[in-house]
Amino acid sequence: MWAIAGVIMPVGYYRPPRYSGAMSTFDELVKRRGTDCYKWDFQPGNHHIDDLLPMWVADMDFPSPPEILNAIRRRTEHPVFGYTFAGESYKESFTAWQRTRNGWDVEIEDLLFASGVMPAVRAAILEFAEPGEEVIIQTPVYFPFSGAIKDNGRTVVENPLREVDGRYEMDLAHLRSAITDRTRMILLCSPHNPVGRVWTHDELAGLVQIAAEHSLLIVSDEIHADIVRSTTSFVPILTIPGAAERAIALHAPSKTFNLAGLASGTAVAPDSELRSRLERAIYRLGMNLPNLLSLEAAHAAYRECAPWVDQLLIYLDAQIEWCKEEVRARFGDAVRVPAIEGTYLAWLDLRDLLASAAVSHKEMQRILLHEARLFLSEGMQFGSAGEGFFRMNLATPRANVADGLDRLERAVRIAKDRG
Ligand SMILES: Cc1ncc(COP(=O)(O)O)c(C=O)c1O
Repeated sequence: MWAIAGVIMPVGYYRPPRYSGAMSTFDELVKRRGTDCYKWDFQPGNHHIDDLLPMWVADMDFPSPPEILNAIRRRTEHPVFGYTFAGESYKESFTAWQRTRNGWDVEIEDLLFASGVMPAVRAAILEFAEPGEEVIIQTPVYFPFSGAIKDNGRTVVENPLREVDGRYEMDLAHLRSAITDRTRMILLCSPHNPVGRVWTHDELAGLVQIAAEHSLLIVSDEIHADIVRSTTSFVPILTIPGAAERAIALHAPSKTFNLAGLASGTAVAPDSELRSRLERAIYRLGMNLPNLLSLEAAHAAYRECAPWVDQLLIYLDAQIEWCKEEVRARFGDAVRVPAIEGTYLAWLDLRDLLASAAVSHKEMQRILLHEARLFLSEGMQFGSAGEGFFRMNLATPRANVADGLDRLERAVRIAKDRG
């Protein structure tokens, strides 16, 4: 057995990293296989693929901060786990977090607790759009958005992002033209998964202006708010003038502190009517009672874990820079990576490779999975603009990223040989 900083690794699991640089706690390889986690234990398709490296779903392979683990342990020493609620102290830790991290003053009475961002998105869709009415999304985008709209009998309207010199931008002219008298809501992803944009004040102000002109609600999924590069700042939608009466922001500790399996989230709705309608919808769907341990974890996260997040962001900045350089050196123009201003997700652009090798998106997906044994999120599920793209999750020790790039190289070689 190996033991690195107290984490026990089974023999044969740990592979020494192939890069030079100091080891960090984020370099520890924690064995997740066999824990019924989606990332490592889910197998795509019908055939078991041995030694598959999963770099798909957006959770991190890093252990959550020790402060959170301790808070959960402490709470489990009390033998009663009765119904619980998000108390003042939790709410104060959330507002203090937003004030110090994002310069955003949130009023405690504006907060609602939800059992995750997507449950709150679904509640908002049901409450604020009638069946058949339209919700706008900016594609390519986190694919459960379109599912949440369609599953509830509402209509998806796409406002595709524009690619300008390898960077995605909002197309506000197209947004204006896409709005009809049946449009009720813009479901915003900020920062944007999968394209990695952190929207600027001007872009958000443009969006708010259009929403105001057409009396639309903006539901802003800000789950990736804390994961932005050191050169970028996250702008909360509710700091934009005019947003308070028409926007709801959704936050969660699940990405920042790697707590997705604990399922919790916080909605911020300064407008009292919007807030009470969302609260009723959350109640109607039975999502109003927090899981006690998820609340305990979220509370410790916002109260105690800023230094841990600072270290995480340093690691991710370096990881992303390193990965981009490796991709340039290994693949040239065959694989491009748009700027990753936020999130830990690389939106790999393989379009030139697929065109020159005459390999289809589907065939490339097969090569990646079955020949290179690399599990990436395939781009078309994020919208048709994702054809030729694959999303790679970089929130994993550097040794795994190096392994992933080796496997990608194998897949690219196979695709080129087909051409
Ligand atoms: C943009 C975005 N929103 C929401 C979620 C899921 O949020 P939750 O687990 O709180 O429902 C994810 C997870 O990947 C995400 O990337």
